[in-house]
Amino acid sequence: MNEISVEQTLNRTEFQRQYGIVGESLEMQELVQVVQHVAPTDITVLITGESGVGKEVIAHAIHGASRRSKKTMVTVNCGAIPEGIIESELFGHEKGSFTGASSERKGYFELADGGTIFLDEIGELPLATQVKFLRILENGEFLRVGSSIARKVDVRVIAATNKDLENEVRSGNFRQDLFYRLRSVNVRIPALRERKEDIPLLFERFIEEFSVKNGIRFGGMTAAATELLQQYYWHGNVRELRNVVESMLVLERGKRLDADDIGKYLRMPVEDRMLPMVVSKQNDFDERQLLYRALIELKNDMLEVKNLLKGVLGSDGTSGRMSGNQNNAVQENLSLSEMERRMIETALKKFRNNRRLAADELQISERTLYRKIKEYGL
Ligand SMILES: Nc1ncnc2c1ncn2[C@@H]1O[C@H](COP(=O)(O)OP(=O)(O)OP(=O)(O)O)[C@@H](O)[C@H]1O
Ligand SMILES: [Mg+2]
Repeated sequence: MNEISVEQTLNRTEFQRQYGIVGESLEMQELVQVVQHVAPTDITVLITGESGVGKEVIAHAIHGASRRSKKTMVTVNCGAIPEGIIESELFGHEKGSFTGASSERKGYFELADGGTIFLDEIGELPLATQVKFLRILENGEFLRVGSSIARKVDVRVIAATNKDLENEVRSGNFRQDLFYRLRSVNVRIPALRERKEDIPLLFERFIEEFSVKNGIRFGGMTAAATELLQQYYWHGNVRELRNVVESMLVLERGKRLDADDIGKYLRMPVEDRMLPMVVSKQNDFDERQLLYRALIELKNDMLEVKNLLKGVLGSDGTSGRMSGNQNNAVQENLSLSEMERRMIETALKKFRNNRRLAADELQISERTLYRKIKEYGL
């Protein structure tokens, strides 16, 4: 790493304050310096990192510190737009170019002219659209759907993804030429667990934010509680930490918190449930309490599965087929879609409406999840 001069450090601190970027780990210091360097240019930036690491925060900082800051930054979630209309959404369309196109319409690139377009979830862009996107990156040119006249825009592109694009290239879902073009400036935001020093700083920031917002005093916490926050896996990264702080502050109201109190707000998958026991050898954890909590969580998981099964089998535990129902086929279909609806509902609840994490858990694409949410009116 290059040596950081005092002047640069002050600038960086000021920059972070201005754009709400909390973090003093070496990783964040280096990252912010790259961001400061690329922001004033027109270079395309690819921001990568797990869900909730702060990709959108960084995108806003890049736009905010650019010469385009007075113009808009149009944010597009590529994963949320149905494939059939993505091209007309991005590039616009001419009147009558397809059924329902009753008037001409500007696409997001035209709306962002002079400013920035932030293409979130770029890994979800369909292959056919990727070619057109590459053309815009190369020379700013595009065609509206239904038009053969090339138009030009002056747009700075920031793209983000939590997918491993190299993997996507290998499996044929992402064009290699586009990948090479995008990755020339790649800002990779490390997961929170890779920069543990930032956890207490972020924690403090969120405590401050939510204490003021809710008028609640924070009652402090024990060393064991602090340790648990540091050792936790933080699957949902900074977003998860922020949510945990808010729930905890509101529900525990001024109480001095121990590891147990905090543990209630953390997602503990089986492998993580073992973690506090390892940690407890070095620190002063109450093993029995932690084991007890793990057992309660297991019990809750089992209750959830039981409820899900009830939805499929019916309350008497027998399936539609076994009960001799005349409308077997219909019954079975209803049960399946009901089961799907419940699984989606449960996943959304579990991840506090974070659709990306819910989609990951359900092993479906975010786009499919959006469609299902609409379909079931969730
Ligand atoms: N370094 C940071 N300092 C302060 N707040 C942060 C930081 N990073 C993230 N946050 C906060 O965490 C939350 C999630 O951040 P953000 O939406 O930018 O993540 P993301 O990487 O875009 O997530 P996703 O992949 O799910 O879209 C936001 O509330 C944001 O303000
Ligand atoms: Mg985001």
